[in-house]
Amino acid sequence: METKNTPVSELEQDILKVLVTEEEIKTRVAELGAEIHERFAGRNPLFVMVLKGAFIFMADLIRETGLRSEVEFIAVSSYENATESSGRVKIKYDIQQDITGRDLVIVEDILDSGNTLAFLKRYFLTKGAQSITIVTLLDKPSRREKSIQADFVGFTVPNEFVVGYGLDYAQRYRNIPYIGVLKPEVYGS
Ligand code: PRP
Repeated sequence: METKNTPVSELEQDILKVLVTEEEIKTRVAELGAEIHERFAGRNPLFVMVLKGAFIFMADLIRETGLRSEVEFIAVSSYENATESSGRVKIKYDIQQDITGRDLVIVEDILDSGNTLAFLKRYFLTKGAQSITIVTLLDKPSRREKSIQADFVGFTVPNEFVVGYGLDYAQRYRNIPYIGVLKPEVYGS
């Protein structure tokens, strides 16, 4: 069989192993969508996606919830292309509407140190949100610095450098369709 030399296959040369397959992601996202539907049936939650890493997860998840809902986007940064969180979270792009009294569902790709979500939860409550529900595709509890947990977790992962399905290293690998572990030599460890 002829192998296609696609850009994705070039990226895949840097992957050490597959941690979560495309099929496993699809199944789990559908389950999460159903659970979130049940939690918010008859209500109008505002889904807030944390750019950029959650963009693929968010797109798949909201279609699985089947809810009458709205979306907003927020961009924050604490990594600045480093592999360790600096702990200082900065807003680079904010949501565009009043959230007073709203039920927010924050959608993240990964909960790592917890700095980002601890900051966002506090920030949105200060802005008047009625409730905050956190959904994360991946949870890496071994790296937690802040006391925060997600209400919905796709997969709990070990402390390995994961990329794909939206997650990057130095802005690359987001378009790999599964979650993979990056070869250590790629990030110089
Ligand atoms: C990643 C990820 C989360 C955050 C989680 O974002 O998307 O937002 O780190 O880490 P924490 O729990 O240690 O705060 P990153 O800054 O890499 O930006 P990106 O989403 O644009 O890739």
